[in-house]
Amino acid sequence: MSGQNMNNKVSILITGGAGFIGSHVVRRFVQKYAQYTIINLDKLTYAGNLENLSDLQGSPNYRFVKGDICDEALVENLFHTHDIHKVIHLAAESHVDRSISNPMEFIRTNIVGTVVLLNAARNAWKNSFADRLFYHISTDEVYGSLGETGLFTEDTSYDPHSPYSASKASSDHLVRAYHDTYGIPVVVSNCSNNYGPNQFPEKLIPLAIHNILNNRPVPVYGSGENVRDWLYVEDHAAAIDLVFHAGKVAETYNIGGHNEWKNIDLIRMLCSVMDRKLNRQEGESAKLITFVKDRAGHDLRYAIDAGKIERELGWTPSLQFEEGLERTVDWYLNNSEWIRSVTSGEYTEYYSKQYEHR
Ligand code: NAD
Ligand code: DAU
Repeated sequence: MSGQNMNNKVSILITGGAGFIGSHVVRRFVQKYAQYTIINLDKLTYAGNLENLSDLQGSPNYRFVKGDICDEALVENLFHTHDIHKVIHLAAESHVDRSISNPMEFIRTNIVGTVVLLNAARNAWKNSFADRLFYHISTDEVYGSLGETGLFTEDTSYDPHSPYSASKASSDHLVRAYHDTYGIPVVVSNCSNNYGPNQFPEKLIPLAIHNILNNRPVPVYGSGENVRDWLYVEDHAAAIDLVFHAGKVAETYNIGGHNEWKNIDLIRMLCSVMDRKLNRQEGESAKLITFVKDRAGHDLRYAIDAGKIERELGWTPSLQFEEGLERTVDWYLNNSEWIRSVTSGEYTEYYSKQYEHR
């Protein structure tokens, strides 16, 4: 069959496709590329939700497999059964606060899981690496924290500070080591903070939208001076598409929005959008802002220099932040059932543990 499955389509394994970014990537690939069969491997942890992909049910070029990337037998079997040619690896434990309270799950999934996938790729592709690719999705947090000025480039040294970012840094090193040692064709991208539909409401923007809507305090860590560089999730999915198809093997691409915001300024703007959408008096939602104990090891500032992907692959973010935020707020207001289902059960327990003593 030399590289194609029985339907004559190239099989691509996307891990973590039921999560926030993964679901946008899966949808883009399934809808845009009829010539691929997309295999979505996801464990469906608290962060994974098949509702995110309900519109793809019945698509002939899409399969979902429930499973753990750390399960060697399952992963090896998947590579052989589906004749996997390329991998886009997004599955991870992704929330910094959870990594502070429970680091081991991050070590297991983010480090061990990545190695299980690399080993399976190495075994399955041992006869030839032609037309094979292992694309690892990573984060700007591996570079550590910036001061008031400067940007992360692809040459910035790694300096992770949280168990999450240290586990992602470790997985990046392992991916590159498997290229250098065994010749596996790899590419890595490191992206800044994403926002948009389907993000689990443990992350700042959806958590704040949910709390404002329910008139609950909006927790801002420390003094709110920390800076993040925000990118709309579909712009990240477009960048992933480009890197997957046109990125050079063994290269790294930084992806970011040129869109830095202090947390407190972002939350104030979000409050004002929510006032308008909910017909509240201007300033009403901002009364919910509550400064709480800072995150341990809280990085001051992240900001990406996305010059390389812009110059070499022609990518630029398509949305202004104001428009992206409007779209995001509209999505959460129009999808109350989604929010209700993901905030029942485990979420309540997580929320009270995370915030009650702050
Ligand atoms: P997410 O937490 O929303 O989704 C993670 C997905 O991985 C979930 O569907 C979950 O069920 C699945 N998963 C977790 N452990 C698994 C396991 N052991 N086996 C199989 N599946 C498992 O995460 P996200 O925000 O969509 O992030 C996706 C990737 O992008 C991660 O690798 C993250 O490090 C990276 N990233 C995220 C951001 C961001 O702002 N969210 C920015 C840059 C990079
Ligand atoms: O930079 C990319 C990273 O962005 C990704 O790799 C991570 O997976 C993703 O979770 C995100 O990490 P952050 O820690 O930057 O995102 P989070 O939404 O958790 O927090 C954003 C900022 O807001 C950060 O400075 C902490 C602050 N914060 C967060 C929460 C949840 C608050 O002030 N209050 C909160 O309740």
